Amino acid sequence: MLEVVRKFPEQVEEALAIELNFDIDFSKVKRVVVAGMGGSAISADILSHFSTIPFHVVRDYTPPSFMDENTLFIAVSYSGNTEETLSCFSLARDKCQHVAITTGGKLGEEAENVIKIPSGMQPRAAIAYLLFPMAKMLSNAGFMNIDFEEMIYNLKSNREEMEEMAKEVSNAIHGIPIIYGYGVMGSIARRWRQQFNENAKMHAFDFSLPECNHNEMEAWEENAENITCIFLREKNEMERIKARFDFMKEEYGKKANIIELYAPGKNTFSRAMYHMHVGDLASIYMAEKRGVDTEPVNLIMKLKNVLSQHSRSSS
Ligand code: PA5
Repeated sequence: MLEVVRKFPEQVEEALAIELNFDIDFSKVKRVVVAGMGGSAISADILSHFSTIPFHVVRDYTPPSFMDENTLFIAVSYSGNTEETLSCFSLARDKCQHVAITTGGKLGEEAENVIKIPSGMQPRAAIAYLLFPMAKMLSNAGFMNIDFEEMIYNLKSNREEMEEMAKEVSNAIHGIPIIYGYGVMGSIARRWRQQFNENAKMHAFDFSLPECNHNEMEAWEENAENITCIFLREKNEMERIKARFDFMKEEYGKKANIIELYAPGKNTFSRAMYHMHVGDLASIYMAEKRGVDTEPVNLIMKLKNVLSQHSRSSS
């Protein structure tokens, strides 16, 4: 997986070059709903922070009831066979204009507008293909404004720094990592957690500021053995957020190891992609350190099989 993940900047370029050949009337679109799970859904989480129109991410069997002819519904599933995403798709397809982002599967067969992405990867390693065609489509429609060139330049010109940071982080993690971020970095923290779970097969947790300051923080009153905190920070973060992080650093630092990471880049999106890539690499180095294989997700597949047997026997 390491070799695939290292090609992220090139994959972003390839993903942005995928042609968007479909017939959507964007002038009717007033909101976006994206359905997906796991490694597919995270792309939408990240993009939701940059949308200029309401943007809702569903990780469930049922899409929201507010969907109508002014909603653009996007189903994102690497395999095209994830049951929750297919369920949302079947409930949304007659109500709104829709697009599917997938390698194929049932979703690829049934959707009218398909963005076909390359197959043969683990979904979470295909993040460039799951995220950037969606970002390009929504940018072309005027619903977000992302400087793709700067972001690619930032990734390409900092390869060694990102590798180094990822190695340092994986060496410094002891026990369970808890990753914290604000705004889009909260979604990137979630991505880090998912990558530690799936690639390194380890427990990890993620929290977003300021919400965690109203609940999770109280757990730090008690002992916090065997925890490493990772703060995904921004140099120009709001004063109030800086004050919160500084407080957390002071208090949590009495009980746990704190790793603070800053990313270069001219804008928040660029810095988010930098932080994301460092996390992706760190999860692979963490897998190496733990002696586990990044590729198989045995329990995820086992459950998918159990559920498919279940629906066959109950139909
Ligand atoms: O990364 C993974 O393998 C998972 O999180 C999958 O993305 C998740 O199970 C959903 O599958 P798919 O992306 O094929 O819809």
